[in-house]
Amino acid sequence: MLELASEQQQKREKTELVLSNVYNLPPIPKAMKEAMDLLNNPSTSATSLASIISKDQGLVTKILTIANSPLYGLQRKVTSIDFAVMVLGFTQLRNIISVLTMVESFKNKTDKHLDQKEFWLHSYLTGCAAKKIAEDFDFPNSGEAFIVGFLHDMGVSIIHKYFHTNFIEIHKMATEKGISFSEAEAEKLGLNHQQIGNFLAEKWNFPEILCDAILYHHNPSASNLNKTLPAIIHLADYMTHALQIGHSYWDKDLTLDESTLEVLRFRNHEEADSFIKSYEELFMHQANAVRYLS
Ligand SMILES: [Fe+2]
Ligand SMILES: [Fe+2]
Repeated sequence: MLELASEQQQKREKTELVLSNVYNLPPIPKAMKEAMDLLNNPSTSATSLASIISKDQGLVTKILTIANSPLYGLQRKVTSIDFAVMVLGFTQLRNIISVLTMVESFKNKTDKHLDQKEFWLHSYLTGCAAKKIAEDFDFPNSGEAFIVGFLHDMGVSIIHKYFHTNFIEIHKMATEKGISFSEAEAEKLGLNHQQIGNFLAEKWNFPEILCDAILYHHNPSASNLNKTLPAIIHLADYMTHALQIGHSYWDKDLTLDESTLEVLRFRNHEEADSFIKSYEELFMHQANAVRYLS
């Protein structure tokens, strides 16, 4: 038993060592970097920000798609980047560009083990749904819900990119042994994707509440910090599975953590089910709009 524990510990340490090198993210597209620099500078004008973003058509399309997502919840249709800067404001734009930057940096090539489009769609829907759920439940910072929702499974992407051989073995192990991806990840690497996401988010100095929500996105009741944000992310993630839109095969056995009902004050399962159902059309609409974006 003790031997097994120390073997797991060794795997964990080895994985953490590799992850420490991921700390330095690979270079991101120039326009994204310049936009982030501008957003972090208090004297930046809306015009200069819009002109930098406009240089990268891919970035413009992604920002406009998010801004116009019915799940994202803006009332007005945003057709130009100048208008997006005005309507979204710097904080929301920073959130959007941050997640796009992160996803871009640890993106890998699609192969038969992980389809990047599928991963992007799942992240996107979870992020936008988490933001809307946060607003529906008067959670004070829906921007945080958007960021964590978008990045909750980044551990999966990291394993695919930096531990590729292990990813293939995890895939195989989960199928053959009939265990969840998370269990197979923990067995192979000493850490599952929730822990890997959390480890990196801490390294990147994300606020504690965000790191915690990434760590507990499968089991929000285990959080000791604030159960609301992990519960929101968990519900958004679960919705993709319940509605079978933009769901992820790596977490296909995800079940709803019962504590979510209590934390979000649903009276019973029926109420939670009809809440989930009320998102179906938004999910469908959105999935069609973003399918070709990644
Ligand atoms: Fe997950
Ligand atoms: Fe997920």
